[in-house]
Amino acid sequence: MKSIELRLATPDQLAAILSIARAWPTHFVPAGLEAIAADFERASAIVAKTDEGVSGFLIWSADAESIEILWMAVDPRYSRKGIGRSLVDAVVAQSPGASAMVVKTATLDSRLAGTQLDGTDFEGTHRFFQAMGFTPMEVAQAHWSPHNHALILRRSLD
Ligand SMILES: CC(C)(COP(=O)(O)OP(=O)(O)OC[C@H]1O[C@@H](n2cnc3c(N)ncnc32)[C@H](O)[C@@H]1OP(=O)(O)O)[C@@H](O)C(=O)NCCC(=O)NCCS
Repeated sequence: MKSIELRLATPDQLAAILSIARAWPTHFVPAGLEAIAADFERASAIVAKTDEGVSGFLIWSADAESIEILWMAVDPRYSRKGIGRSLVDAVVAQSPGASAMVVKTATLDSRLAGTQLDGTDFEGTHRFFQAMGFTPMEVAQAHWSPHNHALILRRSLD
């Protein structure tokens, strides 16, 4: 990988975004892929591009005070090269007035029957967000479905 470029996503990049999400079946179930596509239409999205194409994405919504990360992923072939960090930094830079950033992610004991969703695989996700300055705030039990709980993490931007 020679360099990473961060750009606001264009509509033709949805297929590449979904392809990256599909590479993480323990994280993104089929209904999640549909939700990513819907949020891509209505929210804001940024992509990381290498010389080989789209290698990561982040979809977010923002109001005057806070930024919510809705979905993000990095192509597993490019893990631990700083792309996730660059995506988060770029979104913070896009919203200079925001005082906080939040994200909801699955708890380690989350499961979803009939899918490959596996909360134990979110340990790396939790470590990533903590490395980005987020603090776990609370668990919303049964947030997405009876055994799929949300860990809410927050980062102050003040
Ligand atoms: C979480 C994710 C976006 C991280 O992307 P990435 O580009 O690999 O992360 P970075 O290289 O920027 O990591 C920055 C730091 O976060 C921490 N980190 C990232 N992944 C980690 C892991 N699996 N285990 C432990 N720490 C991790 C490290 O401190 C890392 O710095 P280091 O590599 O110098 O030690 C990526 O693993 C991913 O797409 N996961 C699946 C989808 C997901 O969890 N999305 C978020 C919820 S919607």
